[in-house]
Amino acid sequence: MDEVFVECEKLDHFGRGLCHVSGKIMFVPNLLPLEKAFVRVISDKRKYMIGEVVRLVKKSDDRIEAKCGLVNCGCAIKAMNYDKTLEFKKNKVTEILKKYSGLDGVIKEIIPSENVYFYRNKITLKVKDGKIGYFKNDSNELIEVKKCFLASEKINKIIGILKELDLSKVKEIVIKDFDEVMIIIDGIMDIELLKECAGSIYMEGKLVYGKEFIIAKLGKFKFYVSKDAFFQVNLEVALKLYNKVLEYLGKSNSVLDLYCGTGTISIFLSKYFESVIGVEINEEAIKCANLNKDLNGINNVRFICGDVSKEIHYLKVQVDSIVMDPPRSGLTKSGIEDILKISPKKMVYVSCDPMTLARDLRLLSSDYEVKEVTLFDMFPWTYHVESVVLCVKK
Ligand SMILES: C[S@@+](CC[C@H](N)C(=O)[O-])C[C@H]1O[C@@H](n2cnc3c(N)ncnc32)[C@H](O)[C@@H]1O
Repeated sequence: MDEVFVECEKLDHFGRGLCHVSGKIMFVPNLLPLEKAFVRVISDKRKYMIGEVVRLVKKSDDRIEAKCGLVNCGCAIKAMNYDKTLEFKKNKVTEILKKYSGLDGVIKEIIPSENVYFYRNKITLKVKDGKIGYFKNDSNELIEVKKCFLASEKINKIIGILKELDLSKVKEIVIKDFDEVMIIIDGIMDIELLKECAGSIYMEGKLVYGKEFIIAKLGKFKFYVSKDAFFQVNLEVALKLYNKVLEYLGKSNSVLDLYCGTGTISIFLSKYFESVIGVEINEEAIKCANLNKDLNGINNVRFICGDVSKEIHYLKVQVDSIVMDPPRSGLTKSGIEDILKISPKKMVYVSCDPMTLARDLRLLSSDYEVKEVTLFDMFPWTYHVESVVLCVKK
């Protein structure tokens, strides 16, 4: 069975078209609901198949001309009308919260990104055989990139320069653009031509040009951005998300900011709380967080470097509220037990993975009621979505 005719029933949670072929599920990237197509079977597993569109026979009214022709690069829903991508993300989180934590009618809205193109301030480029691009989803096959419509204009300019250079001894290049630019090179190359567009260049882990940190501006605050510490990739949406965290927490005395990164949420909240404690595992992020306190003249925030699951077990503090923004893996079981013992009046859970969010909310539901969820389209054209959840003590 090399080529088959399919009709797309809906999108799966990864933005792929879901079809059935002889009773078996088939996932087809870049196929929209109700579209019909001839599809090549590129993988046939025991429980499902993966297909690739050969010829589209019936087009969806929601289909748009994608800005770039790259396939399987990470922008799973770039050929869908933007409003429909928002609807897809809202439906997806609604479905997951209902199925895995029994929550219904809690999602208030999804906040769009004003900039739907050129919004990313950071990209990671892979280099193979001297060529630069992204790895195809779940493989190390390189898709060459000339221009990426997600990355900032300045990053695209740098991609243009990199393409002219000898990258034969390079594996990966990370570019961060916060007006000031940082380039992090895994490998060895001539950096002379990069110097005029970068404020900081690292090669093989060492600073070889410019400053150790670059500065990002977010609202009224400034933050140090470093080589390895996490920083939000879409600042316009991040600012709206932080304001929602503040709105959900309301006024109270003390707050614990778990998984605080470089302390952005802690510092953002510091004006409205008597005391803030941030916990983060990455030493470089905590170094930035402490510098960020001084940079913004903040003195009611304390940062602790360590694993949240261990630190909160021994943390002898009473806090009114907790904000937590864990990585995709979500909270740990022991972490949840300790959070329940701390027993804050309110919690705000910021999540980049609705599946682990749903799992954790179910475990927290013995003591906490989910009052409201707001979604943020931090990553337009991808299947990813950020959720901000207000939980109140029962
Ligand atoms: C999604 S980021 C959130 C950062 C921050 N809230 C912000 O808005 O910039 C998650 C952070 O959790 C940190 N992290 C991951 N595992 C951790 C753990 N077990 N304990 C503490 N921090 C952890 C990561 O280093 C990362 O900085």
